[in-house]
Order: sequence, then structure tokens, then C-alpha cells
Amino acid sequence: MAIQATQPYWSELARPQFPALHEDLSTDVCIVGAGIAGLTTAYLLLRAGKRVVVLEKDEIAGGESGRTTAHITHALDDRYFELEQLHGILGSRYAAASHTAAIDQIETIVREHAIECDFRRVNGYLFNPPEQPLDILTRELDAAHRAGLGAVTLIQGAPIEFATGPCLLFPRQAQFHPLKYLIALANLIVEQGGHIFTHSAVSAVRGGGNAMVTTRAGARVHAQDIVLATNTPANDVLVVHTKQAPYRTYVLAFAIAPGSVVPGLFWDTADPYHYVRIAEGDIHDMLIVGGEDHKTGQEDDGALRFEELEHWTRERFPAAGAIAFRWSGQVMEPVDGLAYIGSNPLDASNVYIATGDSGNGMTHGTIAGILLRDLLLGQANEWAGLYAPHRKTLRAADEFVHENLNVALQYIDWIKPGNYASADVIPIDCGGIIRDGAQKIAVYRDADNRLHTCSAACPHLGCVVAWNNTEKSWDCPCHGSRFDAFGRLVNGPALADLTRVNFS
Ligand code: FES
Repeated sequence: MAIQATQPYWSELARPQFPALHEDLSTDVCIVGAGIAGLTTAYLLLRAGKRVVVLEKDEIAGGESGRTTAHITHALDDRYFELEQLHGILGSRYAAASHTAAIDQIETIVREHAIECDFRRVNGYLFNPPEQPLDILTRELDAAHRAGLGAVTLIQGAPIEFATGPCLLFPRQAQFHPLKYLIALANLIVEQGGHIFTHSAVSAVRGGGNAMVTTRAGARVHAQDIVLATNTPANDVLVVHTKQAPYRTYVLAFAIAPGSVVPGLFWDTADPYHYVRIAEGDIHDMLIVGGEDHKTGQEDDGALRFEELEHWTRERFPAAGAIAFRWSGQVMEPVDGLAYIGSNPLDASNVYIATGDSGNGMTHGTIAGILLRDLLLGQANEWAGLYAPHRKTLRAADEFVHENLNVALQYIDWIKPGNYASADVIPIDCGGIIRDGAQKIAVYRDADNRLHTCSAACPHLGCVVAWNNTEKSWDCPCHGSRFDAFGRLVNGPALADLTRVNFS
């Protein structure tokens, strides 16, 4: 199994074991991915009478759903005044309504099944750092009201230890322990007759009349419909990947005395922005702070990012004690701010995707469950056009060109030298790229001084991977595929490991 070096706060919880798939099966819907999008889709389809099979390459919430900070909110990372520009007022209203419905859907599931996942309603606060124009908040207030969020108000300051200045209050947002929720959801799916197979990586997806998903181990799942809920769709070679970009984000969890920071969700409007919440524990609470995002595979300064985040936090929260956890995660940023949920472009009509979390993965993942249920049942859903993966948002053309130019520039790496002249100088527990004639080799020197060598060509579309020393992984700067230090696939869109090569 592929591994990552840092551990999220949630990962202390043991995950339940599910079998791997070893035989062929038939079902109504095969769902690939057991994060929040895949499990919510499976749960809601089961409730609607469909037979479902979930395939997961690692374990429950083994991907980004296990590395989130679980802000459950309709205060979207891409401001409502921007969404209104991109999608019109109706689109902005549907965005607000769908994220609100997602919060309610999570609460309904929690209440109906009495899930103990620390779910609670909390207020959210959006504040401006001094360098940002003041009118961001007033423009957002007006746009939020036009989007139907009439309860949003401008107040004099957030109820935290430092003076935020004026901020927007978003009432009745929510938070939970994502792993407790997703484990409960997985258990409910199995109790209600669904099937979950973990450690069952998928190698091929075929839609159409004889739709089928094949695992790396050779087992096949025949299905009427297929849903790819894998953070980024491994079945789509290019189209969707030109419309979103991968970013790394960093998180620290500080021990704090119980009650020393008011529970709530706090965000600033800096670029990159910071996000803060509390998790209540038995002995002490955790102050969980994230931010310092950058494009995946284009910086390797995670230690510095953690330092910046710690500095930012200690300046503002004197209650912050020792750092108990640090981790990083991956965010897929759509060029027009909203997830892609629906039929996969240029594919058979019975292959669906859910991707583009845009930093609002808990709500976008839950919206995916609601919307995909409706689409697969042939029921009308007024959000379908807003989230359609084939949509073209003309007003996002500049961002589209910018991100794709950035990807094109990554191929220049093939004519550059490696970042180490020789494998001999790569430090212990570190990786580097070595040039070998026309080839580039990804070399990892392990803790026992042994070298592990792979082709540096990403199996997706051939960009040169880069070393990520924070997670001890190889990250692709083009569309965000990631591989552990030994070249094993961590996340797509690549479907295969890096190719092992001999190099001396
Ligand atoms: Fe597309 Fe690597 S993820 S080339």
C-alpha cells in the first residue's frame, strides 16, 4: 500500500476492515472511491433501492476525505461575488442552495442514525487581513444576500482572541469528525445490503452497454452505471484535467485547554487564505489551522510552509500549545470555482464523475451524492447544469488559459538537468531527479541508504514528477498524480505506479 509521511489528527481512529475483491460481480451501480462523495452516493442510492458496490484502492477515507479539516459550510472559498460573475445570479443561488442542502443532508444522516461523530452546528466568520481591500466583505455580503443567504450579516469582529476587525457572520454552519462520520456511513451501507471492497485498486473503466470496472487484481464488476468518486477522475484522460488544478495545503493541530477558543469556523480573505476550527477532545481540544497552499509539485518547501502557519497562529492565538499533528492535503481547484458532478465528458453516458472539491470537499462531496442519485434515477435536479462536467464557463476563460499554460510549461522539465548531478549526493530519506541521457530518473535513498529508482515520467501524460519532502512522495506538477517514495500510486489521475528502472 502507498504511504504518506504525515498523519492527520483524525487518523488516530482505527478504520474497519473490509475485504478485497477477488471475484466477478454484477450490480446496478459500481462506485469507485470510498471518500465522502463515493460513500454518500452509495448510501443515497441504496436508500433509493439500487444495488451498489464500492471499490476503494486503500481503505475508508484513505484519500483526501481523511486529510480534510472538515469545515461544513456554504461560505464558499470562491466568493459569491465571483461565482455570480462566473455563473450568473441563478447559478450563485443554486450554489448557495446546494451547499446549504448538503449541510442539512449530513445533519439528517447523523440524526437519523444517531452517529457519534462530534457533529455540531457552529457559526462561520470571514474576516479581512489588513492588506486586503475592505470592500471584499461588503461585496460578499451583498452577493450572499442575492444568492439567497439572507442570514449572513456584517458584524464588528469574530469572537476570537485577536481583533479580526469587521467580519461576515454565516450562521448555522457545521463541523464534525470526518472519519467517525465516514466509518459510520460505510457500516450503514453494508448493513443495508451494499458491498464495500477496500484494497481493490481499479485498472480500467468501460462504460456503455456492457459497462464494467476491472481491478488491478483482475476482478470485474459489471454494472448499469459507474461513478468515479476518486477526488480526481482516473478514467478521464484529459478533458476534466484541463479544467481544474491541484494544490497542496498545509495543516497544524495545536493542543489547547478546553474552552479556550470559541468553537466556530474562521477564514480570512488572504491569498492563500487561512482556515481555523476547533476539535473537542477528552483531555484537551485541538486548534486546527490550515493554509499556505501552492500548486502541487511546483514547490518543495513544506517545512517553511508549516513554519509560516505556526507563526501566523501563535501571533493570533496565545492559547495555542504544542503542535500535536501536522499534515498536508490536496485540493482540486476548478477554473470556475465549483465541482464537476455528472456524466463524464467524451465518455459513455452511464459513466459519472465527482471531482473539483475547490476546498469545500465535505459539501461538494455530499452534493455529489444527492445529485448523482437524482441523475441515476432519472429525476430532475435543478443543480445539474451548474455542476455538469461538460460545462463551459466563458468568463473563466482567462483562468483556463492560465492553468493550462502552467501545465504546458511543466514539460520544459524534460530538457532541464536533474535537480541532483548524481545519486551519490541525495541525502538519506530524500528523493531527487537524476538525468540519465534522454531519461529522467526519480531516485529515493531510504533510511537504510538503499536506492529505489523509477522513471520520472508520470504514467498519466508524461510530465516529470517532483519530490515532496513533506510527504516523502513524488508529485506530478501537471494534474496532481502522486506516488509514494517507492513509486506506488497514491492518487490519480494516473492509474499505474511509476515504472521501476535499474540505475546505477
Ligand atoms: Fe497528468 Fe501527471 S498527472 S501528467
